[in-house]
Amino acid sequence: MDDLQSNYTPSGFEWLAREPEFNPSKHLALEAPALVETLYDFGYGQDDVAQCPSDFAVSAVFRVLSDEGAACLLDVCRQLSAHTSSNARIERNCRGGVYRSRFLRDMCLSPDIKDFMSQIAGVALMPHTISHQLGHLNYNPHQLGKNVDKWHVDTLRYDYVMFVTDPKAVVGGEFQYFKGTKHEMADFKRLGQEVPSDRIISPEMPGPGYAIMQQGNMVVHQAKGLRASGERITMVNGYVAADALIEDFTRYDQLKLVDPADVATTEYARHHAQLAMRLIDQAGFVADDKVHIANLREAARRLAAVADEIEQTGDVEIDHY
Ligand SMILES: [Fe+2]
Repeated sequence: MDDLQSNYTPSGFEWLAREPEFNPSKHLALEAPALVETLYDFGYGQDDVAQCPSDFAVSAVFRVLSDEGAACLLDVCRQLSAHTSSNARIERNCRGGVYRSRFLRDMCLSPDIKDFMSQIAGVALMPHTISHQLGHLNYNPHQLGKNVDKWHVDTLRYDYVMFVTDPKAVVGGEFQYFKGTKHEMADFKRLGQEVPSDRIISPEMPGPGYAIMQQGNMVVHQAKGLRASGERITMVNGYVAADALIEDFTRYDQLKLVDPADVATTEYARHHAQLAMRLIDQAGFVADDKVHIANLREAARRLAAVADEIEQTGDVEIDHY
């Protein structure tokens, strides 16, 4: 995280020449969601929930940005549209925008938003330490009707999906989630069955700067295409559990498919090095050497596993349903 405030930037990324400065007192209008749903509400059992940092599944729609904040973000995202790329799931997205926009970076790292999202998710969070998992931007495909993104789960645990453009100003472009488990969704795909329409939820988004929070690895979701010409931009910001004892969840094999070769592995290695440091740090100053011995051994085990993973990850396909 701190690196984003210094000069640590991959090659080919340049800061925007002109952009607003993020000011939380002017740009944020955080309003807690009316309700949150749990993984049990989605049909998950205790075995699945035990693998997750919390039983949180998805929130109702809530407000993040003031009108002024939403206008600033739209300005930044329109500038960043010059840097979109494609992958097998998404036709037009911009990743790594936090290396180009200080406004986007500061908003994605905002402690106010982090505390707010932690309350919603029921677990202490921190902004993702893989910079390309911050401020991911989706732009509508040029072809009408084509989905912005296909049914999928995320390569990270927690994220919020926020409308940058006004969802009321376009026809279509809904963000949707499946009220069920990813196991059910895999069965639908395997059996060639349609997703039951009465279990597809399209939350009503009142305007730009509104969002939903999700445990994105557990909630299957997609973004519908526009049915009439217009502009649709959404932003997804990722978080990790603040407690370094909670095992990391990152799909490195998937990140390698969507991020530049010099970015995916570098960020993944640094992410784990930081996680190991946090593991030592969070024990504090303790007189009992056994605490540090245990933490160092755990850090060494994890780092060795990450090195093996990087060495052994081959070519795979992008997961979606
Ligand atoms: Fe997603």
